[in-house]
Amino acid sequence: MSENISLAVLISGNGSNLQAIIDNIKSKNLKAEIKIVISNNKDAFGLSRASANGIRKVFIDHKDYDDRETYDAELIKNIQKENVDLIILAGFMRILSSKFIKAFPNKIINIHPSLLPKYPGLNTHKKVIENKDEVHGVTVHFVDEGLDSGSIIGFIKLKVSTNEKENELENRIHKLEHYIYPKIISEFQEDKIMIEDNKVMIDKVFYENGKEYFN
Ligand code: GRF
Repeated sequence: MSENISLAVLISGNGSNLQAIIDNIKSKNLKAEIKIVISNNKDAFGLSRASANGIRKVFIDHKDYDDRETYDAELIKNIQKENVDLIILAGFMRILSSKFIKAFPNKIINIHPSLLPKYPGLNTHKKVIENKDEVHGVTVHFVDEGLDSGSIIGFIKLKVSTNEKENELENRIHKLEHYIYPKIISEFQEDKIMIEDNKVMIDKVFYENGKEYFN
C-alpha cells in the first residue's frame, strides 16, 4: 500500500514490542499508524507508552464480562470502529475466540518467544534452559484458533550460550523481537506478505515453515 498501514495493538503488560513499533514509526522505518492500543490489564505499562505518544488507548477488563465471547465482542466493536489493516498481538495474554478470529480473517498476527511449533504457551525460556537446547528464537505468525499455532510468517534463531540464565536469554530474545516485529509489519505495508490456504508467501515466495530473518 502506498499509505500508512493502520494498526490496532493488543497488550497486557510491559509493551516493549509496542514501543519498538512506535520507535520505528517515529524514525520513519515503518510507514504505519497505531489507531488504538487495547489492554485487558489496567496496570499494563504499555498503556502509559501509548499515552506518552498520543495514541488512543482503551482498557477493557475481561473480568467485567461473563464469558470469552462477550468480551471478544467488545474487542471486535472497538477494533472495527478504527477500521485497521492489521491487528498486532504484542504480549496480549488471552486466547481469542473463534468469533474474534473470524471477524478479522488473515489480519491478526502474534509474536512468540520460541521457535514455533516448539514451545507454544508460557515459560519458553525456562523450557529451553531445562532441555539444554542449543538454539532458541522468536516467531511471528498469523493467529488462528489454536494456541500459538497459526501459519508462521518469519522467525529468527538465537544460539543459546553455555550457562545462560533465563533473564539473559529473555533480554536477548526481546532484542530480536524488537527487530523482527516492525520489520514484518513493514513488509505488510509494502504488500509483500500474503496468505493463501494457510500458506504464507513473502516477496512472491511460498514458505512452508516461515522465512528465516537475520539481525
Ligand atoms: C514477548 O516476549 C512476546 O513474544 C510475548 O509476550 C512478550 C511481550 O513483551 N508474546 P512486551 O510486553 O512487548 O514487552
